[in-house]
Amino acid sequence: MVEPSKPPSAGFPTTRLRRLRYNPAVRNLLQDTRLAPANFILPLFVRSGRNVRQAISSMPGHFQISPDQLAAEIEEVQTLGLGGVILFGIPDAKDAMGSDSTNDQGIVQQAIAAAKKASPQTLVITDVCFCEYTDHGHCGAINDRTGRTDVDNDATLELIASQALSHARAGADIVAPSGMMDGMVGAIRGRLDELGFAHVPIMSYAAKYASGFYGPFREAAESTPQFGDRRGYQMDPAADADQALREVELDLNEGADIVMVKPALAYLDILRSVHDRFPGVPLAAYNVSGEFSMVKAAAERGWIDERTVALETLLAMRRAGAGILLTYWAKQAARWLA
Ligand code: PBG
Repeated sequence: MVEPSKPPSAGFPTTRLRRLRYNPAVRNLLQDTRLAPANFILPLFVRSGRNVRQAISSMPGHFQISPDQLAAEIEEVQTLGLGGVILFGIPDAKDAMGSDSTNDQGIVQQAIAAAKKASPQTLVITDVCFCEYTDHGHCGAINDRTGRTDVDNDATLELIASQALSHARAGADIVAPSGMMDGMVGAIRGRLDELGFAHVPIMSYAAKYASGFYGPFREAAESTPQFGDRRGYQMDPAADADQALREVELDLNEGADIVMVKPALAYLDILRSVHDRFPGVPLAAYNVSGEFSMVKAAAERGWIDERTVALETLLAMRRAGAGILLTYWAKQAARWLA
C-alpha cells in the first residue's frame, strides 16, 4: 500500500486545475482509464433450432439465436477484437434437475462446439448455472428438507461439477459458475482437475447480489424463478460490504482464477474494495441487463445520449478496478472506440 498523501496544490491562483483541461491534447495526455474492446465479453443467448434469431424485447439489439447463427456472430466478435463471448443456453425442455445442462448434447454444449468450430481462437466462456434449465427456475436442485423449499446446496454441487465438466468437454475455454452456492468453485476445480481439465480456468461470480437489475436477462434466458426469489443464495445488497470480500476470498481459496462482481453499476464500491484487497487477481464486472436496458429505454425517448452514457458507465467500472467487462454493449462500444 502506498501511503496516502495529498496531491500538491499551492492554492489559487498558483494552482489552476482548469489549465489541465483547456487544451484537448492535454486532456488526452492525462487520460488514465482506458477502454479496450479486448477487455469486453459479449453475452449470447442460444436456443435450439435453425435460423432462429428471436429479438429480446427488453434488450434492443440482442437475440436468442440458434447454434447455426453463431458462426456469423463469432466472426463479428473476432473482427471487432472483443475479448470473447459468454454463452447462455435456453433448453427446449426443462425439468426439476435441469438435465439439459449436464447433457453432452445439450443446447449450450452444441453452442460451444459451434462457436469453437467457427473460430478456435475466439474465447468462449460458459455460464454454469441451473436457473435456465430447471422448470422451477432456481439455480440448483430443490427440496424441502429444512421445512421450506430451498436450493439444496451440497446436492447442487455435484450437478454443478458435472455441468462444468460437460462444458469443458465441449470445448469451453473458461467456465463461470453463477449460482452462488457455497463450495461451487472447489467442486468444479476438483472435477476438472480429476478428468484432465486442469488447464481450464474458473471465472467465479464471486460476489453476486440478489438484484432487480437482472429483470431483462430473465426474459432473455427464460430463467425467472417460478416461486420465491434468489435471496436465499445471492447476496443481500444491504449486507456489510466486507461480506463480498469473504465471498471472494473463499472462492480464491477454492481455486478461482478470475473473480466477478455483479451487478456492476450499483456495486462500484465493491469492485473497488475487491481490487484493493486482492491486487493482481483478475477482476471482472458484469454490466448486467437492467443497467443496459434502462439506458436504452431512456435513449429511445431522447432523454439520454446512449453512447456517452454507455461509455461513461463502462469507464466507471474500469476505473473502479475491473479489468474485464461483461457487457451487452460489447460490439457497439468496440465500434464507438474504433
Ligand atoms: C444466472 C445468471 C443471471 C445473470 C447471469 N447469470 C441471472 C440471475 O441470477 O437471476 C444475469 C445477467 C444479467 O442480468 O445480465 N444464470
